[in-house]
Amino acid sequence: MSEPEASGKGAVRTALTELLGIRYPVVQAAMGYVSGPRLAAAVSDAGGLGLIASATMSLAELEKAIEDTAGRTPRPFGVNLRADASDAAERARLIASRRVPVASFAQAPKPELIAALKDAGVVTIASVGARRHAEKAAGWGIDAVIATGAEGGGHVGAVPTSLLVPQVAAAVDIPVIAAGGFFDGRGLVAALAWGAAGIAMGTRFLLTSDSPVADAVKQVYLAAGMDGTVVTTRVDGVPHRVLRTTMVDHLEGRGGAGAGRLGGLVRSGALVRSARNAAAFREVSGMGWREMLRQGREMRRGGLGWGQVLMAANTPVLLRAAMVDGRTDLGLMSSGQVAGLIGDLPSCAELIEAIMAEAGAALDRLEGVRKA
Ligand SMILES: Cc1cc2nc3c(=O)[nH]c(=O)nc-3n(C[C@H](O)[C@H](O)[C@H](O)COP(=O)(O)O)c2cc1C
Repeated sequence: MSEPEASGKGAVRTALTELLGIRYPVVQAAMGYVSGPRLAAAVSDAGGLGLIASATMSLAELEKAIEDTAGRTPRPFGVNLRADASDAAERARLIASRRVPVASFAQAPKPELIAALKDAGVVTIASVGARRHAEKAAGWGIDAVIATGAEGGGHVGAVPTSLLVPQVAAAVDIPVIAAGGFFDGRGLVAALAWGAAGIAMGTRFLLTSDSPVADAVKQVYLAAGMDGTVVTTRVDGVPHRVLRTTMVDHLEGRGGAGAGRLGGLVRSGALVRSARNAAAFREVSGMGWREMLRQGREMRRGGLGWGQVLMAANTPVLLRAAMVDGRTDLGLMSSGQVAGLIGDLPSCAELIEAIMAEAGAALDRLEGVRKA
């Protein structure tokens, strides 16, 4: 199992390290406003795979980010994009023309897009939260899947990692990357035992010295306990795991009488902030009020209250407020449950080396169990 080029006992070779040409089977999951060039390059340079999150970038910003990342590391890195973005094909062409080794998708893209990227020599990866999604993506020719369990940060499915990963690994022949709740070498070995070829981590990489997030925000994550996150559908209508903050408690209806409805939002001040954010988002996104209202009416028909509609319209602004502007009071902080177990801010290189050393020790321990 050891790879000659990699030093240390913890080196492993898996279908993922082979597919991507990386030293360690450790991927940095895409995080909007967090995983830009600095973080992605730090992970790739340390022997893992860094992913630039591009859903929150314009096409021109993405082009600059690719150039910046390539200038920081000679090692493979990837770009994560939304398959449903109106300019997804253009983004894919940019990735191919800049010879980015990996394209990853939040949901599986159409077979034509996968084929175009693969023809250009780009490895394609799709995130899945259920077995049938993995089977579908594999049938469409995707090279690998990231199976993300319910303990993960951001938008999540309902199946926990410990059940999803073995199920997906048994269902598809392509490399499966386990995600949701990973933070150390023992988890990597557990994932390999479940049939995965590696792990992806979001929250753990957010909490490194290489992550661009403001220190005040990192401190809020570090202070979170095991009950410090909550899955809410009250932000944008789909399950989203975030740090439990006063604002989220209000949205969830835990912030006092009437909270969670429009009245509660007004009393908490969240609605005023939402409206302000919606105005800011309109400027950033270039989306007109008419388009925002149209989307809002659609969400209303989908059963959301107007307060939620406003929140949904500016989810990116709320995320940006925390991740870029350091506003822990009004920002929304996506987080995995694993935040409750993390208490330090190592560099990516220190973290990956520690994970591989710990994985090596865990494998030795298991060898001892076998001999006993
Ligand atoms: C702060 C943060 C932002 C995220 N942003 C995105 C995103 O923009 N696109 C995406 O597909 N997933 C996003 N995710 C989800 C991650 O890609 C990944 O699935 C998750 O972090 C894995 O769980 P973990 O945090 O327990 O490691 C985000 C997660 C976090 C913590």
